[in-house]
Amino acid sequence: MTAVDARPETSAGPRPESAPGLRFPTGFRWGTATAAYQIEGAHAEDGRTPSIWDTFSRTAGKVRNGDTGDIAADHLHRMPDDVALMKDLGVTDYRFSISWPRVQPTGRGPAAERGLDFYRRLVDELLDAGIRPVATLYHWDLPQELEDAGGWPERDTAHRFAEYAGLAADALGDRVATWTTLNEPWCAAFLGYGNGVHAPGRTSDLAALRAAHHLNLAHGAGAAVLRGRLPSSAEISLTLNLHALRPLADTEADRDAVRRIDAVANRIFLDPVFHGRLPADLVADTAAVTDWAFVRDGDLEVTSAPIDSLGVNYYAPSVVSAGASPSPSPWAGAERHVAFTPADGPRTAMDWPVDANGLHELLTRLRDELPSLPLLVTENGAAYDDYADPSGQVHDPERVAYLDAHLTAVHRAIADGADVRGYFVWSLLDNFEWSYGYSKRFGIVHVDFATQRRTRKDSARWYASVIARGGLEHP
Ligand code: FCB
Repeated sequence: MTAVDARPETSAGPRPESAPGLRFPTGFRWGTATAAYQIEGAHAEDGRTPSIWDTFSRTAGKVRNGDTGDIAADHLHRMPDDVALMKDLGVTDYRFSISWPRVQPTGRGPAAERGLDFYRRLVDELLDAGIRPVATLYHWDLPQELEDAGGWPERDTAHRFAEYAGLAADALGDRVATWTTLNEPWCAAFLGYGNGVHAPGRTSDLAALRAAHHLNLAHGAGAAVLRGRLPSSAEISLTLNLHALRPLADTEADRDAVRRIDAVANRIFLDPVFHGRLPADLVADTAAVTDWAFVRDGDLEVTSAPIDSLGVNYYAPSVVSAGASPSPSPWAGAERHVAFTPADGPRTAMDWPVDANGLHELLTRLRDELPSLPLLVTENGAAYDDYADPSGQVHDPERVAYLDAHLTAVHRAIADGADVRGYFVWSLLDNFEWSYGYSKRFGIVHVDFATQRRTRKDSARWYASVIARGGLEHP
């Protein structure tokens, strides 16, 4: 594989090949995903300064059990072994995130070479292993200094992000082919500043809406910087956690509740990024919160800089009805109009329903709305209460069933014309699951956090066999 070879072709998407079993298109990207704060540890090494997650996790009552990412899966020190593990599984792509406070401490000024060196080594190790690096610039670890200066509700944070994007591109752009600006800006804006369950833990509808706009601006400004500094073959992307929404009842009131959440959770990103506009109904729904004067002339041209693919993260759908949501809420402007009902059926350890149809719905929606845009499923997976049995095995049949069902849905979406180029399991390793700390295990590889011992779960062996076969066994 050449170092920079991932720019997707813009022609109609590849088609799945025929039986036996469910075969994926040749060249389909089989990946695993992680994020810096969730696995790296080494929180005070190489001049790294605290991020909002260091601060938040040290704030009493914010993270289960008082867990922090100080050590996490100790990946910074065990990276070569973790890459070797991925090589052994046969993955073609690895989606990781770069820690902003590690490569640009405090979020301003020159790059920290020692911090960048870790990512240089990681990328070299991946390329040597034949694994394509997929780098995410922002997976929620804002330098605390930038939060102290106002954080995402302030416009300057978007400019700071674009500068940081340039530093990372200069250091790694010759060897990283795929770049993702942001991971799940919905969570960063609405969980971080709306209901406060994520860092920095603020609870303000206005702050959340301002943050969403400035994240869109950061994405567009960052994408423009990347485009200017990376080889023309580079793939520039964005990852959204689009919400798959169903009305509780087929009534006008419940359909309108779906419309409201679609506006404040999906179209608030899709419209500025792909159409250079704000959703008119969102502006109307949020009129009591803001007049959106923080969106300045020219901003929506910046946010809609062309990109090469869209990453979709999917875990579970939501059932929505007319009603009211508890306060504080992440649904700015919609909280007094919308209620959520737990879906029936099996659940994961997160209490999230298992329903692969939602992934098919999202991918076919994007096929219709953004027909020429290649798609990647950049996260999908499930937490279960895994443990090593006395013989050291970790059996996780529910995760295998979950992944199988969701890959089947991806295959069906491709057969239905969605241009899906790859799939990344969340996650390679058990890790720091944000406000749940280490209590939720999403890895296909088990981590004993006392010893840092890695043990492949049955799902890792299953995923390796899927990759080797290029698809699923069943018809
Ligand atoms: C996503 C995050 C990821 C992980 C999974 C379970 O929202 O991007 O870091 O926590 O959920």
